[in-house]
Amino acid sequence: MAVSVSIKLPAIVCFLVALLSFSVQGQLSPKFYARSCKNVEQIVRSVVAQAVAKEPRMGASLVRLFFHDCFVQGCDASILLDEAPGIATEKKAFGNINSARGFEVIDAAKQQVERACRATVSCADILALAARDSISVLGGPNWAMPLGRRDSRTANLAEANQLPAPLSSLSQLTSNFRLKGLNFQDLTVLSGAHSIGSSICSAFKTRVWGGDSNVDTSFALQARQTCPASGGDTQLTPLTTPNTNRFSNQFYKNLVARKGLLHSDQELFNGSFTDALVRKYSTNGAAFFRDFSVSMVKLGNIGVLTGRNGVVRLNCRKVN
Ligand code: HEM
Ligand SMILES: *[C@@H]1O[C@H](CO)[C@@H](O)[C@H](O)[C@H]1NC(C)=O
Repeated sequence: MAVSVSIKLPAIVCFLVALLSFSVQGQLSPKFYARSCKNVEQIVRSVVAQAVAKEPRMGASLVRLFFHDCFVQGCDASILLDEAPGIATEKKAFGNINSARGFEVIDAAKQQVERACRATVSCADILALAARDSISVLGGPNWAMPLGRRDSRTANLAEANQLPAPLSSLSQLTSNFRLKGLNFQDLTVLSGAHSIGSSICSAFKTRVWGGDSNVDTSFALQARQTCPASGGDTQLTPLTTPNTNRFSNQFYKNLVARKGLLHSDQELFNGSFTDALVRKYSTNGAAFFRDFSVSMVKLGNIGVLTGRNGVVRLNCRKVN
């Protein structure tokens, strides 16, 4: 017995060490830049805090930018690439055109980070940190953001055109998220990002002009004030009222009251399998904050380029 253990143990240890180093490779870590760029988190946070102080909506815009990055080719900063030969910019996709914003803030953060640590920190990680910081600056949870993403050399306009749309049904939303490895709880809790920011009228017009059965009447009448039946398509309305630009569980309270602004939001509370979670988050803000942090980390892991894959772009808008 003792003999067989003494022979097997080193082999087992060897195997475990090999397994560990294999599984760590290609994974992100909050300490990724601890040696190579120890100030990166502080730099990004101060740029984000300044941008949000100047314009509170910017926090929401940065969170959405991260989501739209991660859902297209993974979190690889592909959304930041401008149109160029060989690059069909994702900025022209249905869900991004005249809508995605915050690029200048990422440029400013990147510039400062480059000054501190040349060619070290990816644009994809800066965007991930900016999203995390936006949530916490606006009163939401804070969490350790795993880092080590690298940037793409390509964009994918066709995939960007598949981003979830505001007229989607619950089954379309869940299948869209499932394609990215996210389940219906991730869908429900990440949609809580709509507790901040605004929407253009064209995204919710049909909902407030008779297109939806599940809508509070006085809420619809109110929303029509900023979203006429014809025209006014680019006018903005807060996704959650009140509490704009304060991260909270008000979004879920509104859904329970049938006051979701987007059709896709109200689909999460319309007599189906996500109702229970919506109800829970509407009364338990702590559970919302906890689960939101977990799902944001999951979102940030989608399709990442690590190790020798991808590059560190020097200018987030261009391939090096
Ligand atoms: C579930 C499917 C989703 C759909 C259909 C959807 C759709 C939309 C639409 C139509 C807008 C308004 C855009 C505009 O007016 O320009 C919007 C804004 C926003 N979305 Fe979503 N969204 C979804 C999920 C998410 C997720 C998962 C996040 C983040 C985790 C997110 C974060 C935001 C934020 C923060 C805004 C406000 C942006 C701003 O004010 O600049 N959304 N979304
Ligand atoms: C909710 O369900 C009803 C009945 O199935 C459907 O007509 C409606 O489009 C759904 N969504 C919303 C947001 O009203």
